[in-house]
Amino acid sequence: MKALTISTFGLVMLLALTPVLQTGCQTMSKEERQAKRAAKKKSKKGNKARSGPDLTPVVPQRDSYGRVNTSLPFLAITFDDGPHPTNTPRLLDILKAHDVKATFFVVGTNARRYPQILRRMIAEGHEIGNHTLDHAKLTNLSPAAVEKELGVTHQTILDATGVAPRLMRPPYGAITASQKSWIKKKFGYPSILWSVDPEDWKRPGVSVVTSRLVSGARPGGILLAHDIHKPTIDAIPAVLQQLKQRGFQFVTVSQLIALDGKG
Ligand code: NI
Repeated sequence: MKALTISTFGLVMLLALTPVLQTGCQTMSKEERQAKRAAKKKSKKGNKARSGPDLTPVVPQRDSYGRVNTSLPFLAITFDDGPHPTNTPRLLDILKAHDVKATFFVVGTNARRYPQILRRMIAEGHEIGNHTLDHAKLTNLSPAAVEKELGVTHQTILDATGVAPRLMRPPYGAITASQKSWIKKKFGYPSILWSVDPEDWKRPGVSVVTSRLVSGARPGGILLAHDIHKPTIDAIPAVLQQLKQRGFQFVTVSQLIALDGKG
């Protein structure tokens, strides 16, 4: 009687639990399938990262780069003329949120005023390049004056961050072939120009800056922008989002140069 009671109870419980057990089994297997898919995706991503190109900076072969010769989907986004006390920190927040590394061509006089912003750039994985001491038009200057413009700024960046700049960008893009060659020999800097100029300094509006940067991007491209203008900073989240959607990855200019002639 006792045994019958237990077995009846057991049978009733089994019947009562059957739908629960079935649902439970279905849920588990669905979860398992999802987990399996996620693991597969993760391992694919991991493989991709492991088999990605070597981005270790190399000694630049050319005196000057307006873009880098690669068909790999890499871009460098660059910001000139800062640092600016409010716009640059806001830009750094945006870059951090999007996990994007950029290159800042700083003016020496601004670098002196805001060394803590330079330290933040380096701490967050960005690159700092030399944009002269006071935004000088180098084509108007003697070799001694060019050396001072670049030398003083080089030391200012090094003193602020402990990291020596490896690149320069001539203000207004104004530089002669012989200056490029001499600067490369003297400082080791290639002169970095650009492949996309949205003319953001003319303040054409956020959506125009966005569409010019996005539509101009090609593999190996160097995008020009200015972190001293608020509307430029306002454009950057959409620029990064749209270019990532198109499959581009952002690297610093020195990392991009490491891809020159590869792929
Ligand atoms: Ni400039």
